[in-house]
Amino acid sequence: MTDMTPLAEADPTLAAMIAKDADRQRSNLQLIASENFVSRAMMQASGSVLANKYSEGYPGRRYYEGCAVIDEIESLAIDRAKSLFGADHVNVQPHSGSQANMAAYLAVLEPGDTILGMRLDQGGHLTHGSPVNFSGQLFNFVAYGLDDETEQIDFDNVRAIAHEHKPKMIIAGYSAYSRLIDWSQFRAIADEVGALLLVDAAHIIGLIAGGAHPSPVPYADIITATTHKALRGPRGGLIMCRDEHAEVIDKAVFPYAQGGPINHQIAGKALCFKQAATPEFSTYAHQVVRNASVLADAMAGAGARIVSGGTDNHMFLTDLRSIDEDLTGMEAASFLDEMGITLNRNSIPSDPRSAFVTSGVRIGTPSVTTAGMKQEQMVTLGNAIVELLRKRNEPTTLQHLRARVAELAAEFPAYPVDFVGYV
Ligand SMILES: Cc1ncc(COP(=O)(O)O)c(C=O)c1O
Repeated sequence: MTDMTPLAEADPTLAAMIAKDADRQRSNLQLIASENFVSRAMMQASGSVLANKYSEGYPGRRYYEGCAVIDEIESLAIDRAKSLFGADHVNVQPHSGSQANMAAYLAVLEPGDTILGMRLDQGGHLTHGSPVNFSGQLFNFVAYGLDDETEQIDFDNVRAIAHEHKPKMIIAGYSAYSRLIDWSQFRAIADEVGALLLVDAAHIIGLIAGGAHPSPVPYADIITATTHKALRGPRGGLIMCRDEHAEVIDKAVFPYAQGGPINHQIAGKALCFKQAATPEFSTYAHQVVRNASVLADAMAGAGARIVSGGTDNHMFLTDLRSIDEDLTGMEAASFLDEMGITLNRNSIPSDPRSAFVTSGVRIGTPSVTTAGMKQEQMVTLGNAIVELLRKRNEPTTLQHLRARVAELAAEFPAYPVDFVGYV
């Protein structure tokens, strides 16, 4: 029989490291906008024996024997995703959001084609044309930006650049944009210039599933997403598309961009789509949005400038210069982590500092909402963040604020004490 020694005995060093990170997740407040806490059932599905199986191909068309159950599981995931999002066609094999984007671009474009996406320093993702990413090297990316004053998508700018460059694809959907996205405007511009519309819903797919953000399904030709952010599923990617693109999308994922599917993660995706179709998940998604809005308002009330004036989704950016001219995103994120609040630095629109240093932090509520926090805690947290940053050089005040943050984390733990996620 296979070795059944538990991890704690088989590799105490590694087991201790996992336990240490479980403690970090429990003891710090997790405000990274792209993270979440998965359920115990999710860990069981994605930590299962399905990890042992090779299954290159698709349900009913595999290159390996023994795939009958894998076919059932992948079909279950596909059917649940189709029903959850109302999509014509779904591919659940992408290993990540980046792999989903790679496959989607290569399915319908040729290297060298022009793609129009959001400027990376205004909210776009690396896979939207960064020169250090495959996207920027394989395709000719042109970029639209935000309106200088409102810090919201400037559709006149999108339209003008689209008409000038006639891209084959337009990308909407971002890593750091806090406002609702009007898909119909993107659809109209794409139609005017004969472009495909790809929605990268990596960040907001959970809100879409829960009905807390309008769905791009009626508007987009192709939608890519991740399953591990607000959707609260396993780490992985997803592509949805109209029937006419189904065949090229499937071929681009396998055999073009990937090999064997990660079956234990696909099982996790099947579970995730079931969980996301419940009324409880819809309540959760709406609470994520409400929490982000109250947190942003609390910080604004305490004197912090929120980029674009607030948020309609699960996250927002704070311009740290409104708290202290000299405070950088780098310093603020590192200091807050020490104080028990984990988030990430982020460029703000027209940031005078580099992408490594930045003048902002990105704050998101999916994780703390999963932990059970509501508006009341967001007010406490918002005030604490601004006060901590303002008084970061006053040790006695810090002690008291640090204690308040620790109390919040203890009251709303991510997981029970000692839980590490495996049995
Ligand atoms: C808009 C967007 N697209 C794609 C991705 C890539 O996802 P992954 O990290 O799974 O490759 C991200 C990740 O944060 C994202 O924000």
